[in-house]
Amino acid sequence: MKDTLIAPSMLASDFGNLQRDTEMVNNSEADWFHIDIMDGVFVPNISYGMPVLKAITKHAKKKIDVHLMIIDPDRYIKDFAQLGADILTVHYEACTHLHRTLQAIKAEGMKAGVAINPHTSVDLLKDIINDIDVVLIMSVNPGFGGQSFIDKTYNKIQRLKEIITMHNADTLIEIDGGVTDKNAAELSKAGADVLVAGSFVFKAEDQPQTIKNLKQLANS
Ligand code: DX5
Ligand code: ZN
Repeated sequence: MKDTLIAPSMLASDFGNLQRDTEMVNNSEADWFHIDIMDGVFVPNISYGMPVLKAITKHAKKKIDVHLMIIDPDRYIKDFAQLGADILTVHYEACTHLHRTLQAIKAEGMKAGVAINPHTSVDLLKDIINDIDVVLIMSVNPGFGGQSFIDKTYNKIQRLKEIITMHNADTLIEIDGGVTDKNAAELSKAGADVLVAGSFVFKAEDQPQTIKNLKQLANS
């Protein structure tokens, strides 16, 4: 049976009630906490940084999935390891020496992820697929929550799945941006292993139930 994971994005949580929203995720069927770090340079927005992550990890009881939308991410690998990140994802477009960056992340005991923007082909990852624990396919342009899902993502998932199989890799496929109850089942069927959902979860009246529904749809 398929076991597709759900990772609520804390970017859409209520920062004034961060402990409450962290506990909500703890007590839900969610699998990972998705943490979006934006620097205002790689993406046209600044989200939050280490002190906020620290406030979340203080109460979080599930895996911490950090998505770095920053230039020169190598500078902060050690800091994120110390803050308790389990998975550290850097952008393909932000790394000149991606292979070296992935080794540095693993050397700190974390799983290494690579995120790709909508314009970046999954084929560019062929030669290092066996070194990547998670490929995060952006299904919106990074920088903001609440945007609409880009349909071309399905083709990218299928192609990435082929590459993973071809290389006998055990890389997970994570989809980030515009995930709702309308596309969760289809994304999972196409090959997604992890679905990130921000506004769809946190704007819902019954958030734990919304997570449960997404999980059911993704594993139906
Ligand atoms: C976008 C972030 C996403 C975002 C998802 O740059 O990487 O993780 O928070 O938000 P929704 O689910 O609202 O599209
Ligand atoms: Zn993200």
